[in-house]
Amino acid sequence: MILVTGGAGFIGSNFILDWLATCDEPVVNLDALTYAGNLHNLASIKDDPRYTFVHGDIGDTALIADLFGKHQPRAIINFAAESHVDRSIHGPEDFIQTNIVGTFRLLEATRAYWSSLVDRAAFRFLHISTDEVFGTLGATDPAFSEITQYQPNSPYSASKAASDHLVRAYHHTYGLPVLTTNCSNNYGPYHFPEKLIPLVIHNALEGRSLPIYGDGQQIRDWLYVKDHCSAIRRVLEAGTPGETYNVGGWNERANLDVVHVLCDILDELAPKSDGASYRKQITFVTDRPGHDRRYAIDARKIEVELGWRPVETFESGIRKTVRWYLDNAEWVRGVTSGSYRNWVEKQYA
Ligand code: NAD
Ligand code: DAU
Repeated sequence: MILVTGGAGFIGSNFILDWLATCDEPVVNLDALTYAGNLHNLASIKDDPRYTFVHGDIGDTALIADLFGKHQPRAIINFAAESHVDRSIHGPEDFIQTNIVGTFRLLEATRAYWSSLVDRAAFRFLHISTDEVFGTLGATDPAFSEITQYQPNSPYSASKAASDHLVRAYHHTYGLPVLTTNCSNNYGPYHFPEKLIPLVIHNALEGRSLPIYGDGQQIRDWLYVKDHCSAIRRVLEAGTPGETYNVGGWNERANLDVVHVLCDILDELAPKSDGASYRKQITFVTDRPGHDRRYAIDARKIEVELGWRPVETFESGIRKTVRWYLDNAEWVRGVTSGSYRNWVEKQYA
């Protein structure tokens, strides 16, 4: 049995769906159901006997101890976090609370449980982190590797960096068998439409403006979410405790180019009745404060040591993603209207 935290979010829900599609090992999903948690994503497995949902906070020590006692997980995968950079700029408090204090409490509860295990070496604590902890790159700098210095620039990335350091310390000091992955920008199904790609698809179809921060020349390294999930499974299976693994898609793209691609695919798959291109909706807006210019991941370690490479190219992944949003307008409506929260209350009353 594995315990997944934050499994009702974007990456966590994709991970659980893929996990149960590829193996029979049961999963417990612990999620606080913040605005980003959506149990609708997991409706297809709601009654699957291999799946258990627990509503709760990673910072709730008593609840975590109870979960460990009841389910005896062989591994924990910690996705739970506040994840949106812009929100961290407007209000960092929740980021400090969940990403730092919450991870600390989860580590403490895990240490107590792990200390009581007979086979302590077989246990794993896999912490899901981000490339943003490395800071920003110039146009010709080499990509981030596992030994790049941490230089986080936003409250979000600083809180993730702090959690990464705690995870590292629990290995170094107590011997807890931890693994950390630092991944680049994900995209794909169930992505909350506050993030660039789903926001642009949604706004385009609604006839709204497509906001580009600053000059739109900031670069991100895009990875299809299912590829991130397969990387996590591989690290859990074969990663060396105490090591970190960078995960990326070898897909550096400037934001404006990403938005152009989205508009072009939408022009083809959902043409506007007046024949105009969605590109006409692009609007340049004030830049994000402290906006990191470029991220790029050197993913050679995970390829050489663990044999993992992404399957999707940007072209194949982005087309699948647009198609998914067009085919799942109901999901988008639920999220943007807030009705997904009513659904959760009804289902779990
Ligand atoms: P998300 O915001 O979509 O989901 C986060 C989930 O965590 C939600 O279901 C939320 O309800 C839950 N949660 C929040 N606080 C909690 C708490 N205190 N206790 C229990 N659950 C809580 O995030 P995401 O995009 O799926 O990201 C998941 C993880 O991956 C995060 O740790 C993030 O830093 C990391 N990451 C994300 C990306 C990306 O591009 N989205 C890239 C690299 C790394
Ligand atoms: O790099 C990994 C990180 O990627 C994760 O750790 C974060 O959890 C995840 O949210 C993401 O962070 P970004 O800030 O890169 O993602 P976002 O989708 O918010 O923005 C992508 C780029 O697009 C960024 O340069 C800001 C820009 N942007 C974003 C929005 C929402 C715009 O130009 N306009 C927008 O409206």
